[in-house]
Amino acid sequence: MSVSPILETVGLTRTFPGVRALDRVDFRLYPGEIHTLMGQNGAGKSTLINVLTGVHQPEAGEIRLADQAVHFPTPQMAEAAGIQTLYQEVNLCPNLSVAENIFAGRQPRKRGLGLIDWKTIHRRAEEALAELTLSLDVTQSLDTYPIAMQQMVAIARAVSVDARILILDEPTSSLDEGEVARLFDVLRKLKASGIAILFVTHFLEQTYAISDRITVMRNGEREGEYLAADLPVQTLVAKMVGLQNAGERLTQAEAAHTETAASHAEPYLAAQGVARRGVLNPLDLEVLPGQILGLAGLLGSGRTETARLLFGADKADAGTVHINGRPVKLSSPRDAVRHGMAYCPEDRKKEGIVADLSIRENIVLALQAQLGWWRMIRRSRQRELANEYIEQLGIKARDAEQPIGLLSGGNQQKVLLARWLATKPRLLILDEPTRGIDVAAKFEIMDRVRALCAKGLGILFISSEISEVVRVSDRIAVMRDRRKVAELSGAARSEHEVYDLIAGDRR
Ligand SMILES: Nc1ncnc2c1ncn2[C@@H]1O[C@H](COP(=O)(O)OP(=O)(O)OP(=O)(O)O)[C@@H](O)[C@H]1O
Ligand SMILES: [Mg+2]
Repeated sequence: MSVSPILETVGLTRTFPGVRALDRVDFRLYPGEIHTLMGQNGAGKSTLINVLTGVHQPEAGEIRLADQAVHFPTPQMAEAAGIQTLYQEVNLCPNLSVAENIFAGRQPRKRGLGLIDWKTIHRRAEEALAELTLSLDVTQSLDTYPIAMQQMVAIARAVSVDARILILDEPTSSLDEGEVARLFDVLRKLKASGIAILFVTHFLEQTYAISDRITVMRNGEREGEYLAADLPVQTLVAKMVGLQNAGERLTQAEAAHTETAASHAEPYLAAQGVARRGVLNPLDLEVLPGQILGLAGLLGSGRTETARLLFGADKADAGTVHINGRPVKLSSPRDAVRHGMAYCPEDRKKEGIVADLSIRENIVLALQAQLGWWRMIRRSRQRELANEYIEQLGIKARDAEQPIGLLSGGNQQKVLLARWLATKPRLLILDEPTRGIDVAAKFEIMDRVRALCAKGLGILFISSEISEVVRVSDRIAVMRDRRKVAELSGAARSEHEVYDLIAGDRR
């Protein structure tokens, strides 16, 4: 390429106690390209971004912006230099309005008076959203919108200023297909105007749909830089995990689960006509011990709503639920837990992790709550449990005492899963359990979940990735417009079939 990079790093190094998160990384980003960073959980992707944007300081190495060595003591200085960043977790203020979130920290003021010019703010916020073909009531507080929409607001904030470089760390993990397509349209438009875009994702399809160039990270090092068109997906995966034949192994793993586990057992949970007005139409569902029931559907189709009703997190206003053949009332999560259920929720930041607590404390949390707080689990037992799951799920951490907030995103997700597995549930609801988890770990986690199934655990599995639902589920309930439209089992479980059902009349 004859153009010189807009952003370049030379020998960039950053260590944290016990880990070399970045190890002499040379990286280049060109104007007008979409460049994707790929690598397993903990490979150093977010750390690279954090160092580029002034969140962390490098110990060694150099950052060059348009051929000039630069130094960003704070994120604000990186922003002022034209680097806009969307971090892995939405970091907006949920109780401020949409408009305030878009313009937080840079509100236009009425000249001379120093008053905030609300009219202008609202109009400009609407314009920024219109760029993304969205129209929201910008005066509403942000938390009145679903996470996917909040994410789009964060993107609107990032693109509404004159940026030369736009960095997005896993922006699509909570977006549905249509929203991803819309975001990609916006990214292509920005790219055409000469902006350099650095993108992090674990979705292979998205990587190939949008990238010009791919940089692979492994264990804090830059493994290599490739043109997307020259890098077959198998090779990419092999490079990420550092194995020659890893790509093949994954394909085999994918092919392995084609047989439906035969289960003649009685359902552990049977729901009839469970419904909630305006949220979910009456639905029948059975979860059998030893089986995975997949819930497929678009965001907003009623998947999470179903899970919440069954778990007692929201109250059903019709229907009955039987557990082990006996009618039960599930009017709170506590009832559900008493009946052997566990729920691993989708929004790990809001409902999940406690950032300041250690990995050990986060893992024992649900178990301790179940036992009651007056019966504290002994320290030694807590350590044992934590180490068991760190080992079992391959959680990448210094040790069990490390605060969970310091782990990479995917590893936080694994801790959350461990928390619920530790309660030894009979029925486990997994809502997007592999969101933000790298491809290799995804297979590993689902293999482990399957192994638990073999011991009689029943699982309700929710994922936006249809291919994943089809791969792991014994039966699939397909949801559309807040109702169950079909149930597929045996040979009928194909991606094609699920897509057709989801598309319904809209095809
Ligand atoms: N503030 C911190 N303090 C201590 N260790 C950290 C900190 N930030 C990151 N690390 C460690 O540095 C390593 C790289 O983490 P990083 O977040 O960059 O990974 P990642 O590639 O973004 O992973 P993921 O795909 O899971 O988001 C991990 O081992 C992580 O635990
Ligand atoms: Mg990350």
